[in-house]
Amino acid sequence: MKKRIGILTSGGDCPGLNCVIRAVVSHATLTYNWEVVGIPYATQGLLERQVIALSVHGWDLRGIDPLLNMGGTILGTINKGDTLARAGEMIASYAELQLDALIAIGGDGSMNIIHQLATLGNWNLITIPKTIDNDVALTERAIGFDSAVNTIVDALNRLTFTAASHDRVMIVEVMGRTAGHLALHSGIAGGADVILIPEVTYTIPGLCQHLDELRNTWRRKFAIVVVAEGISPCVADFGNSCGLELNNKYPSLKCGMGQYIADQITQCTNHEVDTRVSVLGHIQRGGIPSALDRLTATVFGKAAVDLIAQEKYDQMVAWQNGQVVPVPIADVVAKSPSPVDPGSYLIHSARSLGTYVGEW
Ligand code: F6P
Repeated sequence: MKKRIGILTSGGDCPGLNCVIRAVVSHATLTYNWEVVGIPYATQGLLERQVIALSVHGWDLRGIDPLLNMGGTILGTINKGDTLARAGEMIASYAELQLDALIAIGGDGSMNIIHQLATLGNWNLITIPKTIDNDVALTERAIGFDSAVNTIVDALNRLTFTAASHDRVMIVEVMGRTAGHLALHSGIAGGADVILIPEVTYTIPGLCQHLDELRNTWRRKFAIVVVAEGISPCVADFGNSCGLELNNKYPSLKCGMGQYIADQITQCTNHEVDTRVSVLGHIQRGGIPSALDRLTATVFGKAAVDLIAQEKYDQMVAWQNGQVVPVPIADVVAKSPSPVDPGSYLIHSARSLGTYVGEW
């Protein structure tokens, strides 16, 4: 039976989303001869009952396929909204749009909301994990994470040269919300001297002693310190030059944890160390998707379409042990966000390089 499937992107954008759309539309139309419609701005599009027709030929520019390497999402996205308050309208919209199934590409927050809507409205839902934070449970990969890691590593490479030239300590604040995956992966790959993540406690004296050893024992006059935005201020610190006012997004200081750590280093080194802070911000969400994200997007897109063909719904496509497998969305939502395991091999590997990853 010919199907009409909807696809939407929800939550913060990231590189690789268009690649998923490309894979879904290609497989659904070329293999199954189905119709695929995009729903712009996620649940907002559902509320407004809008769709965009998608076809493999629709984006062909002199044979160049822009969706392969275009960052962001051609469908648009939102990462807030009192969606469940208008659940009835959205449920009616799914029926009115005559959708046989819906593919939602999102992080754990969006997946939670859309899963609740799907349960209420009896939708045929498949989800695909995406987030630069890589904190969706039950999958080792989420679209966008690898590209963001590469962007951060590029920034660390650049900052290392200027740090070394001026004998400075460069503090680099990276995203990740409450999880430290981005900081840990990029810190190791980018040769950071210090990696601070929310999952591992640190002390300012421990951090400063490490910087001291770098200078005095190893004659390294510069250092690269990667700080995850979601770390908490240290209890045993040297005062709070930026104030302990908490913002309501995640437990961090108003001034940002990068600046906080820089101020602590300045104080504990008696102003002998010159620090500079780079907050990478939304640069981490932009750019062209990495090769790994393109590959993951392609296999996830195909797997999502095949699950619809098998009429196996309420599943998220996941990457586990080198395989693409379906996992119940309910289990994913219950176990997310998934933090870094403080006993992980990655943390031991970072420490084996002499990197300070906290805990003393
Ligand atoms: O979840 C992805 C993410 O980029 C986080 O790492 C970051 O804290 C947040 O989104 C930023 O959200 P916004 O785009 O709303 O500023």
